[in-house]
Amino acid sequence: MGGNDKAAPGAAVQGAGRVVSGVRPTGQLHIGHLLGALRGWIALQDKAECLFFIADWHALTTGYENTGKIAENGRDMLIDWLAAGLDPEKAVLFRQSSVKEHAELHLLLSMIVPTPWLIRNPTIKEQARELGLIQGDDEAEMSQINYGLLGYPILQSADVLIYRAARVPVGIDQVPHLELMREVARRFNRLYAEVFPEPQALLTESPKIPGTDGRKMSKSYGNAVFLSDSAAEVDAKLSRMMTDPRRARRTDPGDPADCPAFNLHRVYCTPDEIEYVTQGCTTAGIGCLDCKKIMIKHVNADLEPIRERRAALVARPDTAEYLNEILETGNERARTVARETMAGVRAAMALD
Ligand code: TRP
Ligand code: SF4
Repeated sequence: MGGNDKAAPGAAVQGAGRVVSGVRPTGQLHIGHLLGALRGWIALQDKAECLFFIADWHALTTGYENTGKIAENGRDMLIDWLAAGLDPEKAVLFRQSSVKEHAELHLLLSMIVPTPWLIRNPTIKEQARELGLIQGDDEAEMSQINYGLLGYPILQSADVLIYRAARVPVGIDQVPHLELMREVARRFNRLYAEVFPEPQALLTESPKIPGTDGRKMSKSYGNAVFLSDSAAEVDAKLSRMMTDPRRARRTDPGDPADCPAFNLHRVYCTPDEIEYVTQGCTTAGIGCLDCKKIMIKHVNADLEPIRERRAALVARPDTAEYLNEILETGNERARTVARETMAGVRAAMALD
């Protein structure tokens, strides 16, 4: 975090390689989050300067009617992060709404973003469709949605640009936001001064992990395996997990390619086990429950250290204070960088 890098922004910024990412606090994390995002973050915290935050303001863009759970969800998510192995000594863990500079930058950036850049954003459209706010793909319909949701990608741009981050680990659905972010950075730099580097998406290779019913794993579908589930719960959920429908009877052969559960075998099992299972499935040599048991053993072994860290964390007499302290420290470290950037932004815009 070199001191006065607004004097030589390009150089300072490129060398930094800083990593920033955030997640909306929607509640307990599941193994889809673990395998898709968290494991990538945990690997990054050893290699780069990382800032990871609870995107609680972003939660408001769709959850403004029910704000009561956002703080609690954020806290639960922090516990999941720590249990999974994010380390506050290595990465800066903080809360978006505690660093007010995000809001100031969001406001300033909103002045230079043409509305059509937002209206055509496919990820926001998809979100609006899921919420039933719009029906089709018609861009005119997007004028119906709330200003905050429309501006979601501008807030996200502020989240990243305020740290002059180089890399943003995200899933593929976030690529439109990253593109907008880069356009905003270019536009700002051209209009005022070279303040922002263009951040790159660091696409998390997410293995396909369907929920127990074969649909996308999601808390709201009730088909998720949570990091906080006990070994018995994981066993019960995965034992019931959907398999190739062709295997209605034990004697019917199946095809792992058509089996939702097998996606977990792919991630967790050894090559020998994969071969054994494939052979057994296609010849009806093994039953689905025996097949799944092989995979469940690995999933539980993977989750066990996470359970142990969680148990130790919640058994502390001072858990709440400890979590607050982590966030306070993280917020302050984030603020230090954010303030530096904002000084450069105000200077560039002659607002200082
Ligand atoms: N939009 C992201 C998501 O839905 C969350 C997010 C908010 C984010 N701000 C960010 C991700 C900044 C990366 C960087 O997952
Ligand atoms: Fe899936 Fe295994 Fe059953 Fe085949 S035997 S359908 S791979 S659970």
